[in-house]
Amino acid sequence: MARTKRKAAKSGGKSSAREKLIAALNEDLAGELGAIVQYITYAAKTNGPYRPQLSEFFLAELPDEEGHAKFLSNKIVALGGEPATTPRPTPAATTNREMLEAVREAERRAVADYTKRVEQAEAYGDKGLQVQLENIVADETGHFEETERILREWPV
Ligand SMILES: [Fe+2]
Ligand SMILES: [Fe+2]
Repeated sequence: MARTKRKAAKSGGKSSAREKLIAALNEDLAGELGAIVQYITYAAKTNGPYRPQLSEFFLAELPDEEGHAKFLSNKIVALGGEPATTPRPTPAATTNREMLEAVREAERRAVADYTKRVEQAEAYGDKGLQVQLENIVADETGHFEETERILREWPV
């Protein structure tokens, strides 16, 4: 009797851990969809003498973010969830500097969120997800560092 109870509690725990993981991955997915909108919009809004390079820089991030969004959507379905379709809102920004600062903040958040998610995937016991998320942490760290270096000596 006690044994059956323990077993039920254990499987309930696993399913609630799965639901928490799905909800967190859906937050990340909303962030990726938001990043796609953010980069497309900001690439269109750059102005001034650095417009060609800056637009190209923003657009060059898109394949990574799209890849992350595709991976998360598939994983959420694999876990039995329904993928989010609403992007996280793009912060209002007018100048090139404001756009770069908003991107740096979004990438900083992505690194922090995925770092937490790696731990969550490990606790859940999904090694494959853990490894994929670690690769995403590496991608987002690269995005953060490149943006931070552009801002480090941004002239205006
Ligand atoms: Fe991403
Ligand atoms: Fe990114």
